[in-house]
Amino acid sequence: MALVKRKGITISRQLMDDQRSFPEATGALTALMNDLVVAGKIVSAEVNMAGLADILGQSGRTNIQGEDVQKLDVFANKTFKRRMEQCGHICLMASEEEDEPVQPLPGYEGNYTIAFDPLDGSTNIDVNVSVGTIFSIHRRVSPTQGPGTEADLLQPGSKQVVAGYIVYGSSTMMVYTSGSGVHGFTLDPSVGEFFLSHPHMQIPEVCKYYSVNEAYWPYWNDNIRDFVSYLRGSEQGHKACSARYIGSLVSDFHRNLVKGGIYMYPRDTRSADKPEGKLRLLYEAAPLAMIAEQAGGLAITDDGRRILDIVPERLHQRVPLIIGSKAEVEMAEKFLRGERP
Ligand code: AHG
Ligand code: MN
Ligand code: MN
Repeated sequence: MALVKRKGITISRQLMDDQRSFPEATGALTALMNDLVVAGKIVSAEVNMAGLADILGQSGRTNIQGEDVQKLDVFANKTFKRRMEQCGHICLMASEEEDEPVQPLPGYEGNYTIAFDPLDGSTNIDVNVSVGTIFSIHRRVSPTQGPGTEADLLQPGSKQVVAGYIVYGSSTMMVYTSGSGVHGFTLDPSVGEFFLSHPHMQIPEVCKYYSVNEAYWPYWNDNIRDFVSYLRGSEQGHKACSARYIGSLVSDFHRNLVKGGIYMYPRDTRSADKPEGKLRLLYEAAPLAMIAEQAGGLAITDDGRRILDIVPERLHQRVPLIIGSKAEVEMAEKFLRGERP
């Protein structure tokens, strides 16, 4: 039976409710998520101190782990890695900041994998602009003993059991899905708890915003250019969308999820070493695609493939991404096929 979501319930209450809808659940995923929430709170506290780091650093400030103040992306990576390697439910993890897969501490192996982008929007750290963390959880496919194998991580987005993000903005929010809708929680820093603020999030059908780095216009193909012109409203009869581009995928995506919009990072011809665009499949595109679809939206590549269907071949594989309000992504699909409205 689906439980009614009431605003104000804590995230741990929600996680236990999620667990109740799966009678066979062992509580492992709930425990994993609770540790992830703790890591999110630690990083959130550090993000809020970021502007003071230089000043306080000079006075010999140490952080919660007893270490000197360090760069925020390094800090976020260490924090999520540490929480996950000893949560007891991870068999292998992948991080944007780690070249190779990371094993949990010996004896702490479990039945899930996690892939994360510990600090997304890193160019915005030093300038007080919203950044975030993105994560993706799969059930392991290798035999359930000891550390996992790379195959456990290289599963398509359609097999995710939980996907989500934390956005460190004007307030800190955690948004996640475990396959039955998308729920958003806002951190009350005075009590250190996430409370349900956005139950059953649905991406509005009307696309209010488009988000793309238009500086790359000269490097796009004609289909992408025509579609962006269409979004701007240069085609007869189409209501113009406004442009919003923060440069933190997680923040751009979050705004579009709440207000209605489309985000794009298509491939371009700037550099030969990134033929698939910039964003990473495992810990950027796939988790946000699951959230988008669960919220009634859509996510595809710039050649019309559904993001959630892509079977990853490499840990840090890049993928062109078009994600957001369903009708607009479907319109993008038409442009990509060469059709015009
Ligand atoms: P990260 O900070 O994790 O490396 O990700 C940065 C990504 C993404 O957050 C953002 O949307 C995009 O890079 C911005 O890239 P451009 O500066 O090329 O637009
Ligand atoms: Mn990123
Ligand atoms: Mn990052």
